[in-house]
Amino acid sequence: MRVSRKVRKAVIPVAGLGTRFLPATKSMPKEMLTLVDKPLIQYAVEEARASGIREIILVTGAGKGAIEAHFAPNRELERELMARGKQAEARAVRAVSRLARVVSARQKRPLGLGHAIGCARDLVGDEPFAVLLPDEIIDARVPCLRQLLAAHAQRGGCVVATQRVPRADLSSYGVMKVEPLRRRLFRVRGLVEKPALNRAPSNYAIVGRYVLEPEIFGLIWRTPRGRDSEIQLTDALARYAADRPMYAVAFSGRRFDAGSKAGFLKATLHFAAKHPELRRVLRRWRQS
Ligand code: G1P
Repeated sequence: MRVSRKVRKAVIPVAGLGTRFLPATKSMPKEMLTLVDKPLIQYAVEEARASGIREIILVTGAGKGAIEAHFAPNRELERELMARGKQAEARAVRAVSRLARVVSARQKRPLGLGHAIGCARDLVGDEPFAVLLPDEIIDARVPCLRQLLAAHAQRGGCVVATQRVPRADLSSYGVMKVEPLRRRLFRVRGLVEKPALNRAPSNYAIVGRYVLEPEIFGLIWRTPRGRDSEIQLTDALARYAADRPMYAVAFSGRRFDAGSKAGFLKATLHFAAKHPELRRVLRRWRQS
């Protein structure tokens, strides 16, 4: 039974500076770094699309025009490729522009993830919406966001993806106090952003996929600066969860933190090992 409104839009914040990949990201958005044969951001947009979402709201900062251009049609390039007999390439170029309707909101100051989501308020309107953090690449048989949307359709409320992480890593994440409801589904009873190790309420971390109710915008608006002097989405969610139902889904799938060099490399090797052309190259190279 569906107890909630259908989710039609996804917000993808892309305003970050990408400092961990400098100098590669000096003039190119980190979201455009190539993971095997697609830019990082395309994985998130494809996950949203495979989860039934057709409208993407990018929250951008300065110098992010290449991302918008990547999802816009480029008829000149398509025509030129066709004229050269490169039909497959032309199709690939067209397919990217047909993935979703992509619109942008601008985050004028880097005030944190909560603030970035708040910047999408007018474009989202008064309906539930998804959030995907594009640094997190999740390879799953059922797309991670779709797993969250299934829980949202049944229960309503805000829903986040979660995974247990080693204790030593907890202070890099939002961490939740959770209560098991059924297999892979938890009720969230409290949240804290990047806690000191002795204050972490569990080892269930928030992973970068969310389904949010529009009430979150009012709560973000009233959230003071928190951890790192930023307006934290986790703090707004903590207020939400205090008197409203919120859930966490321990999704099935493999997650990579492609926002770090090590994670990016692991994701590259993972997808290369599944790629029809590169699979054999990689195997042979490992044996040599
Ligand atoms: C953000 C969130 C954090 C979450 C993490 C997942 O942190 O604030 O709660 O656990 O994403 O990737 P960031 O990694 O942007 O510092």
